[in-house]
Amino acid sequence: MSKPRFDVISIFPEYLAPLSLSLLGKAQENGLVDIGVTDLRVFADGAHKSVDDTPYGGGAGMVMSPEPWARAIDSVAEQTDAHHDLVILTPAGKKFDQALAYELSQRDHVIFACGRYEGIDYRITEHYRENPEFAVREISIGDYVLNGGEVAALAILESVIRLIPGVLGNPASLDEESHSIKGENDEQLVEYPSYTKPAEWRGLEVPAVLLSGNHGDIARWRAEQSATRTRKLKE
Ligand code: ADE
Repeated sequence: MSKPRFDVISIFPEYLAPLSLSLLGKAQENGLVDIGVTDLRVFADGAHKSVDDTPYGGGAGMVMSPEPWARAIDSVAEQTDAHHDLVILTPAGKKFDQALAYELSQRDHVIFACGRYEGIDYRITEHYRENPEFAVREISIGDYVLNGGEVAALAILESVIRLIPGVLGNPASLDEESHSIKGENDEQLVEYPSYTKPAEWRGLEVPAVLLSGNHGDIARWRAEQSATRTRKLKE
């Protein structure tokens, strides 16, 4: 498979600066992924480079105009022959989770459209849904409203890119972390609590089983802890 590519389109490209830090920066330096950031405003017309307008039907706030978005999306799509996944970030989208992170980590080209204000004219979704070269997904990172999709794109990219083979130094850590641990009935469990040295800290001791050296007991204790934590989260 060719190198996966991720593009983010935003009116605030500076917001995406963390993409060149830490693990995501290293993944690019090591040639494992390409990440591009595109300034939507470059594709707007007129002296004011306006990207929004008042909503049809009335109501508060502004809606992002379709034409600059289509130009920007077509421009980043033209840069590769791959099939494109267009992710439109919106609180009205499908809730992002680890399964969706895995899915996106296996795609060739994912384009993130970061809307601001009251969102992007819905015809952008409709227009690209009609185009067989695109799969359009509306994604939300949770039931709360952000000022724009940029923080959502960062969160999604961080969780997706670490799943790409070669990105994590120790891929075994993927097997043991929250949301990839499976319980007896194959349900998703969160991770067990972790401890490091010293064995006693401010009067608190590390659970004795972890110092026992008995791998069977340790594995059983961790599985119980994962199950208990998961149950508590659902209360
Ligand atoms: N844009 C505004 N709020 C959002 C959310 N919760 N998820 C994704 N994009 C958003």
